[in-house]
Amino acid sequence: MRTRLGSLELRSPLIAASGTVGSVWEWASVADVSAYGAAVAKSVSAEPWSGQPAPRLAPTGVGMLNSIGIQNPGIHAWAQKMKGHRAAIDVPIWGSAVGGSVGEFAEVAKGLEGAGVPAIEVNLSCPNLENGEMFSFDPALSAGVVREVISSVTVPVGAKLSPNTPDLVEVAKGCMDAGAEFLTLTNSALGFGLSIESRRPLLSAGAGGYSGPGLKPISLRCVFEVARALPGTPIVGCGGVASGRDVVEYLMAGASAVALGTIHLAEPKAGVRIMRELQRELTRLGVGSVRELIGSVEPW
Ligand SMILES: Cc1cc2nc3c(=O)[nH]c(=O)nc-3n(C[C@H](O)[C@H](O)[C@H](O)COP(=O)(O)O)c2cc1C
Repeated sequence: MRTRLGSLELRSPLIAASGTVGSVWEWASVADVSAYGAAVAKSVSAEPWSGQPAPRLAPTGVGMLNSIGIQNPGIHAWAQKMKGHRAAIDVPIWGSAVGGSVGEFAEVAKGLEGAGVPAIEVNLSCPNLENGEMFSFDPALSAGVVREVISSVTVPVGAKLSPNTPDLVEVAKGCMDAGAEFLTLTNSALGFGLSIESRRPLLSAGAGGYSGPGLKPISLRCVFEVARALPGTPIVGCGGVASGRDVVEYLMAGASAVALGTIHLAEPKAGVRIMRELQRELTRLGVGSVRELIGSVEPW
C-alpha cells in the first residue's frame, strides 16, 4: 500500500482532504486514522476568517454545495492548538495554507511549519485580493505563490488546484517548475443550486463549491490530462471518491495518492472501508502493489 509523493513516503495512498476532517484532531477521535497516509487540516489564513453566514452547506441530490468561506481562527491560534494535539494522533497532519496575497501564503506557511507539520498544501483555489480571480487560474501567479512558500519553509510543499482552471496543464507546469513536490487535483468545482419554493439560492453566498460523486469524472479528467502532459508528476487525485474502485481509477489515471473529502461528512470512518475495498480490488486485478497501478491506463 506504500506510495510516494516527491520526497514524501506514505504508508497508505489514502489522504483525508482538507476541510472535511476539521483540524484532524476532532475527526481522529472518531475515525480510525491508521488507514490513511496523511490527513490535511482545514485551510488556514494569516488572520481569523469568519466565513460565510448560514446556509453554507447544502445537499444537491448527487453531491453537495458548500460556501464555508474558509472559516478559520488564523495561523497564530491554530498553531497553538495544533502543538497540543499533534503528538497524540497516529497520522501525519499536513497543513493547508490560504491567503489573499503571495505574502500571506508565505506567512501562513511559516506558521504551519512552526506548528510541526511535515508537509504543506497551498490552496490556490481562493481569490487573489488584487484582482478577485482565483490564484489557480493564473500560471505565473500560482508559480509565484509556490516559489515564495518554498523559500519560506523547509518542509515539502504541494499545490492544490481548481477544476475550473482554464489552462490546467500550464498552471500545473508553473507550480512544478517553481518547486512543488506534488499537485492535488482537484478542489471543489464552482456550482450553484436554488430552492424553487423559497426562490432563493441554496447558499447565502449564491454560488459555492460542488463536491461529491458528481465531481469524479471532472477531477479524474484533470489527473489524466496533467499525468499525460507532465509524466512523472506526483499527483493526489481528489474528487468524489467513495469506494476502493474509485481509488483504483484515480491511480490508473496517474495519481500516486488519493484524497477522500465529502464522503467523510456522511461516513467519518470511510477510510477503513475504502482501504479494505482497495485491498480486494488489488487482489481481483492480480496487482501486487499500489505503485504498479499508477498511470497504468492504456490508450485505445
Ligand atoms: C465542507 C467542505 C469544506 C472544504 N474546505 C476546504 C478547505 O478549507 N481547503 C481546501 O483546500 N479544500 C477544501 N474543501 C475541498 C475538499 O478538500 C476537496 O478538494 C473537494 O471537496 C473534492 O473532493 P470530494 O468530492 O471528495 O469532497 C472542502 C470541501 C468541503 C465539502
